[in-house]
Amino acid sequence: MCGIIGYIGYRDVVPVLIQGLEQLEYRGYDSAGIACLDSRKGNLFLAKEKGKLAALKEKIGDFNIDSHIGVGHTRWATHGEPSRENAHPHTDFSGQIALVHNGIVENYATLKKTLQKKKVRFTSQTDTEVGVQVIGRFYKKKTSLFQAVKQAIPQLRGFFAFVLFSKDDPETIIAYKRSNPLVIGLGQGENFVASDVTALLSYTRRVIYLEDEDIAVLTRNKVTVYSLKRHSWVSRPVTTVNWNVAQAQKQGFPHFMLKEMYEQPEVLRNILSKRIDRQGEVYFDTITKAFRKRLKKIERVFMISCGTAYHAGLVGGTAIQQYARVPYQAQVSSEFRYTNPMVGPEDLVVLVTQSGETADTLAALREAKSKGALVLAIVNVVGSTIAREADSVIYTHAGPEIGVASTKAYVAQLATLLLLAFYMGRLRRKLSRDAHRTLIREFKKIPDQAAKILKEHKRFESCAKKHYTRRNFLFLGRGYNFPTALEGALKLKEISYAHAHGYAAGEMKHGPIALIDHEQPVICIAPDSLTYEKMISNIQEICARDGIVIAIGTEGRKDLEKMADDFFCIPKTSEVFSPILTVIPLQFFSYQMAVLNGRDVDQPRNLAKSVTVE
Ligand code: F6R
Repeated sequence: MCGIIGYIGYRDVVPVLIQGLEQLEYRGYDSAGIACLDSRKGNLFLAKEKGKLAALKEKIGDFNIDSHIGVGHTRWATHGEPSRENAHPHTDFSGQIALVHNGIVENYATLKKTLQKKKVRFTSQTDTEVGVQVIGRFYKKKTSLFQAVKQAIPQLRGFFAFVLFSKDDPETIIAYKRSNPLVIGLGQGENFVASDVTALLSYTRRVIYLEDEDIAVLTRNKVTVYSLKRHSWVSRPVTTVNWNVAQAQKQGFPHFMLKEMYEQPEVLRNILSKRIDRQGEVYFDTITKAFRKRLKKIERVFMISCGTAYHAGLVGGTAIQQYARVPYQAQVSSEFRYTNPMVGPEDLVVLVTQSGETADTLAALREAKSKGALVLAIVNVVGSTIAREADSVIYTHAGPEIGVASTKAYVAQLATLLLLAFYMGRLRRKLSRDAHRTLIREFKKIPDQAAKILKEHKRFESCAKKHYTRRNFLFLGRGYNFPTALEGALKLKEISYAHAHGYAAGEMKHGPIALIDHEQPVICIAPDSLTYEKMISNIQEICARDGIVIAIGTEGRKDLEKMADDFFCIPKTSEVFSPILTVIPLQFFSYQMAVLNGRDVDQPRNLAKSVTVE
């Protein structure tokens, strides 16, 4: 949450910062701001506005400023309401240092009181301003900015990343990371730092992922890293990222979400071609022999994640239990970490995360590791903190996902987890070669089947047109598609703001059935499955009470089509693969509902894509 960026080099800094912030805006859009050093006047130029980046851009307009060093910020408010005063960058009392911040300084209130006693004046309600003031106190004593940061950091509790520079030292940007992500972009005669790699792709693909407690010192020609943990200068590996700028742009689509939904067949194709070898066996390049040895013997699996990724974890856990015969438990990260979980060396903890930076999932990872569990991360963003800290990582290779509502990253998580389940099934000798071969053959059809569903977009649109003014929706599913019901409901509420509830269909008669009347739409996810007939009975119960049935089923299911007010079909496939297909109509439905309600699809209110605070 919050996107931060810094630049030093030969380019005009304002367009670099603005372009970077455009890519980072998905991390928060309560306010935006930049600070840079005017080379001619030696002044600090500060511009910030409440609301989206567009407001800041309008304010800056064609303002001509000769500057080659600066920092920028896009905010997801934590401390202090969204306002101009609380917008970053913040400066210290001397007006020398400009700082942008992502995360929370937890002891800000105590520090603020102490500083106020020393007559330091504050202009915002943010914890960020406390951070820059503390650094400013050390800087005052004529140390370098690096030294000031080094001395100030131990006074600040919490989890955060800072990027800052000082008017006095126009040749240096300092960046510090504790838990929240920061990546350095390496250029020729210029260097960058940002919360995530998408902000850098227009300029460079050579990056350094900072580790916790790293202070990076960036000049035009050099980047050096000091580790507060190791009390020494360290060398961090340079990685070349394989994402490109086009992937992080809308490419003619009105919204990133729509573009990302259309990318799903390609994402699936890519995953299957990467993960299935010539013999038809699943393989993961990152899984070592030692890891495999432990994986073979694990006794339980914990699927831990948040939001959409949690729903993927539920599907993955069900498949691992079915094909590898290991019992699983799924829990949201924020609950797992505070329940003193009983995990140990005989357990596998699988963390599913698109960003690889979600604070609760990261904390869950650390909890699991401290108890000796085998920790596997299923991550999209290469080099992210969770990817680096896990015992092993499997990347989902969905490419950059910019829309706040997760779509292609979700299907990539599903596909990867199913492959993991089959892999574990083979490893543990619970899945025969023949059964495996049949599964893989069927899996290979899924990308084309997904593409076929995408062609039906006009029908999803007309269904949304009938219902977009309604405020309450119920989603029902069973087995592998109970998580789809949860995911469908989450998607709808996060982007259309309609209330939506996902439920296990079998539970309907234990409560939610009271909601059913002629005005209640119920989205029933009922592809061919072990529980298809049970699902049909549930739908009958809804029809008997005059509820509105929107059904998703397998093609050719006339019985279902007859009962439903609207029917969307998916091509024939086994139940285990069906969640990859059934979710697509639901994504479209939510998307259309949001558009028809005039919502901001890619940046829904109050949300941020990467949740780096608890
Ligand atoms: C919903 C959505 C969120 C994320 C959740 C976890 O569309 O995107 O629910 O799934 O915030 O994020 P990651 O996967 O980055 O850990």
